[in-house]
Amino acid sequence: MIRVRTPGLLTLGVLASGRGSNFEALADAVAQGKLHAKIALVISDKDNAPVLEKASAANIPSKLIMPGNFAKITDYENEIVQTLRSVNVDVVALAGYMRLIGKSFIESFPCGIVNIHPALLPSFRGLHAPRQAIEAGVRISGCTVHIVDEGMDTGPIIMQAAVPISQNDDENSLAERILVEEHLVYWQALQLYAEGRIYIDKKNRVVIAEA
Ligand code: GRF
Repeated sequence: MIRVRTPGLLTLGVLASGRGSNFEALADAVAQGKLHAKIALVISDKDNAPVLEKASAANIPSKLIMPGNFAKITDYENEIVQTLRSVNVDVVALAGYMRLIGKSFIESFPCGIVNIHPALLPSFRGLHAPRQAIEAGVRISGCTVHIVDEGMDTGPIIMQAAVPISQNDDENSLAERILVEEHLVYWQALQLYAEGRIYIDKKNRVVIAEA
């Protein structure tokens, strides 16, 4: 088995494209001393993303890096990697970042890019996961924190939380209840990084060491 990271204060970079409630939950967990981390930087690819205001309200530096300002998507991602490195980020948390991550970006942070998805993966990857779950008629959905690979919502799973679906649920009511769980599991999964408890086995699965 390969240990993903040794214990120690995490230097986090957060990538987000929108509302930023998961960023806020991570910042709160850091402020409350539950997540042993420093959020060094928030990067958004959208200039009107509310996450930028939330970062400034939390006194966390943020930067807007927009793909449209680069000739190639690899140039855009190289700029992100360099920016993250310039503030010593060692783990990157995607928090509603609405883009796939390219190979070279992934290789720059081996097993060090993490995402949260509003479904119990490997079911319902991609956009509108709560809607997909309702349309499939499943009784239980939830959220998943996973390590990012080149696929869409495909990497090794770190943590999940289940959310029962009621027959009265619509996409919004389900997404809202899932979000409550997202805000609880994301910092906990990152705390496993801080504690050096995440390993990858030969089948590319996450194994969590006892505390
Ligand atoms: C969340 O539902 C998350 O699971 C998904 O995008 C949404 C982001 O919400 N990846 P927010 O911007 O963190 O509020």
